[in-house]
Amino acid sequence: MVKIGVIGLGMMGSTHLDAYGKLPDAEIVAVADWDDDVLSGKNKAQGNVEGQAQSSFDLNNPSLKKYETAMALIQDDDVQLIDICLPTPDHVKYAVAALEAGKHVILEKPLARSNQDTQTLIDAAAKAKGISMCALCMRFWPQWKWLKEQVVNQTYGKVLSATFKRMASHPGKGFYLNGDDCGGGALDLHIHDTDFVQYLFGMPKSVTSVGYAKETTAVDHLVTQYAYDDIPLVMAEGGWSMTQGFGFQMHYTVNFEKATAVFDISKTDPLMLHEVGKESRAIACEAGMGYDHELAYILNCIKLGKQPEHASFADAARSVKIVLAEVQSVKIGQAVALD
Ligand SMILES: NC(=O)c1ccc[n+]([C@@H]2O[C@H](COP(=O)([O-])OP(=O)(O)OC[C@H]3O[C@@H](n4cnc5c(N)ncnc54)[C@H](O)[C@@H]3O)[C@@H](O)[C@H]2O)c1
Repeated sequence: MVKIGVIGLGMMGSTHLDAYGKLPDAEIVAVADWDDDVLSGKNKAQGNVEGQAQSSFDLNNPSLKKYETAMALIQDDDVQLIDICLPTPDHVKYAVAALEAGKHVILEKPLARSNQDTQTLIDAAAKAKGISMCALCMRFWPQWKWLKEQVVNQTYGKVLSATFKRMASHPGKGFYLNGDDCGGGALDLHIHDTDFVQYLFGMPKSVTSVGYAKETTAVDHLVTQYAYDDIPLVMAEGGWSMTQGFGFQMHYTVNFEKATAVFDISKTDPLMLHEVGKESRAIACEAGMGYDHELAYILNCIKLGKQPEHASFADAARSVKIVLAEVQSVKIGQAVALD
């Protein structure tokens, strides 16, 4: 059993609390939020994807320790794993404090707001005795994990093209209103696809992006072409600048030499495979959302005493670096090279 403290009980904190409730090895012993109405359960978070923020966790359980400051929870000797679901500008300060306090840490994406801050986190994790992981949930989303396996195994031959799309309306609240804090739709939302591109194919040679700001002063909607020597076309479109009521789209189309795989979250059968010489078919994957599987994964890493192979701080730092290069490309109107 791992004793867990969750800091920040907004949309993501609430979603993580729901997910821990399904994991037999998880015990939530403490929570922290500086908003009394959130801490009491009076104000409940809303998600934009079905299954997020169900508020299934009982915040009024008398044995639960409640803190109004993140630092007080971090100093709680009972807590082994600190789960940080705070606004992005607060990630570095509290993750470093938690690692220095000897805790295991899972930190929401984006890892941090700048390349300098991601390096601070990597350095702190290297010195710490605890396990550290970034909550890169798409790497654990069943139909996306399936895709990674097919690319690695070349089940349907080489990838000829891979295109991704993630679109929403702006959350319209809190730190999301400030482009300097959240990094716009590029760093906050589109980073999920950037990270998956990196997970599938490694660092691109360069990125070429076009986009614009609408909801914040940062890039809120962009399209990026990722350059690789061996894959002709890799592209992602993402952003949160759609008009309210649009809902949420999450999509990939990957064209292999011998099959085409299509994921669309809005469909009853979200993953379809069209394979040469066969009937098109739905692919059944394990149940659950990426959040359930990522949290099960860090609990297992803690049990085994092994740092995660799949969503390390270094992985997450590379994704921030690529997105910041995409933003730069939007600004200068040219390709930006990556090493
Ligand atoms: N993995 C995903 O799919 C996903 C989805 C949404 C958000 N996120 C990320 O999760 C993080 C949190 O986002 P969110 O949507 O849950 O935000 P949110 O605004 O809904 O929730 C943040 C919570 O933290 C509390 N808080 C803020 N500063 C605090 C402090 N210093 N001490 C204590 N409590 C404090 C607020 O009161 C609020 O309840 C962000 O980094 C965001 O990018 C990830």
